[in-house]
Amino acid sequence: MTTINPQVIGDVDAQAVRVMLVDDTPENLTLLKNMLGDRGLDIFAFPSGSLALRAAEKSVPDLVLLDITMPEMDGYEVCARFKRHPQLAEVPIIFLSALTETSDKVKGFKLGAVDFITKPFQFEEVHARVSTHLQLRGLRKRLEYHNRHLQQLVDEKCRELAEAHKESRKRLAEIAHMNRNITSSVYSAAIAHDLRQPLAAILSNAEAAELFLEQDPPAVEEVKEILADIRRDDQRANQILQRMRNMLNKNQTEIEEIDINEIAEDVAKFLGAEAKMRNARIFSEPAPEAVKVLADRIQLQQVMINLVLNGMDAMADTPVEKRTIHIRVQAVEQAYAEVIVTDAGVGFEHIEHAFESFFTTKPHGLGMGLSITAALIHAHGGQIWAENNPLGASVYFRLPLESGAR
Ligand SMILES: Nc1ncnc2c1ncn2[C@@H]1O[C@H](COP(=O)(O)OP(=O)(O)OP(=O)(O)O)[C@@H](O)[C@H]1O
Ligand SMILES: [Mg+2]
Repeated sequence: MTTINPQVIGDVDAQAVRVMLVDDTPENLTLLKNMLGDRGLDIFAFPSGSLALRAAEKSVPDLVLLDITMPEMDGYEVCARFKRHPQLAEVPIIFLSALTETSDKVKGFKLGAVDFITKPFQFEEVHARVSTHLQLRGLRKRLEYHNRHLQQLVDEKCRELAEAHKESRKRLAEIAHMNRNITSSVYSAAIAHDLRQPLAAILSNAEAAELFLEQDPPAVEEVKEILADIRRDDQRANQILQRMRNMLNKNQTEIEEIDINEIAEDVAKFLGAEAKMRNARIFSEPAPEAVKVLADRIQLQQVMINLVLNGMDAMADTPVEKRTIHIRVQAVEQAYAEVIVTDAGVGFEHIEHAFESFFTTKPHGLGMGLSITAALIHAHGGQIWAENNPLGASVYFRLPLESGAR
C-alpha cells in the first residue's frame, strides 16, 4: 500500500498538506474523509462547488477531489473556474465519478484534471492516486522553490558581476590616467635628456667659432662651416621640442613606415661632429635590403643617439685608433629588425643595473639614457638588451618588421 507522505510538500514550505473534497453526497464525503483521515493530511469537505471555490481562494489547497455530477455547478464548471483563477490554476484536481465513459474522461482531462477516481471508491485506488498526485505536487513545489532560489542566485550574481564590471572599468580608467602621467614624465625626461646633446654641440661649436674669428685674418670659411653645423643642431633641438609639444599635448607618437637603415645613417651623421671631437669614428653598417618597421622616426633617432653617446663615453680611455662605434642593421628570422651598437670601450661594469632609471657610473650622468631608450623600444613592441664583448660592449634592440606586423 502506498503511504501519503506530507513531508513531500511540507519540507518546502513547512505547511500541512491540504486536501479538498467536493461532493454533494454527504456519505461520499464521510467515506473519503475516513479513507484519508489518518494520513496526517488536513482534509476539508464541501457539499458544493461554489463553497469550495470560495474556501480555496482563502487558502489554496494542495489537491482537490471533485465530484462531477452536482446540482447548481457541476464538477466540470468548478474545474474550469479553478483553472481560470490565477492562484488556483496549478492546483491538481482529481475527478470523482461513476461515469466510465471515455468521452467524459477526455472532457475532464481537457479541462485540466490530472486524474479520475471511480465510484464506488476503492481504498487502494483512492490512496494510490491521492498519494501520487500529492507527491507530484510536492515535487513541482520544490522545483518552483529551487527555480525561485536559482533566479535569486542568478540575480545576485548578475548584480555582483555588474558591480565588478563597474569597478574594473574604474580601475582601467585610473590605470590609463596613470599611464598617461607616466608616459608624459618619461617623455619629458627623455626630451630633457636628448636636448642636452644638440645644445652641448652648439656651445662647443660657438666656442670654436670664436677661436676662428680671433685669428688674424679671421678664418671665415671655417666659421661658415661651423655655422652650418650650429644651424643643423639647432634644427634638431627644435625638432625635439616640437616632439615634446606634440607628446604633451596629444600624448601621441607619429608612427610611420621607416627603413631603419636610414635612421642609422642619420644618427651617424648627427653625431659625426661629436665623434670627431672625441677622436672617435662612427660606422653605419646598413643591411643590404630595406629593413622596414612601423615607428616614430625621432624616437628611433633618440634611441640610437643614446646608445652611440654611451659607447663614446665608454671609450674615453680607449686608444684613439680603436675608438670606433659600429651601428649594424639586419633583419632576423624574417620577423625582426635588429640594430646592434658596438663600441670598443670599457664594457658594462654592472650590466644588470644598466637599464634602471638613475643608475649611472658617470660623474655627470643622469642615469636616464638607457631606461628611456628601453621604454621607447618597449613602446614600439620591441626588446633591448646588452652584452659585453672581449673589447667593449654591444647593445642590441629588435623591433617587429613592418611586413611581420600585418
Ligand atoms: N656602451 C656602454 N659601455 C659600458 N657601459 C655602459 C654603456 N652604456 C651604458 N653603460 C653603463 O650604464 C650606465 C647607465 O647608462 P645610461 O645611458 O642609462 O645613463 P648614463 O649614460 O650614465 O647617463 P645619461 O642619463 O646621461 O645617459 C652608465 O652609467 C654606464 O655605467
Ligand atoms: Mg647615457
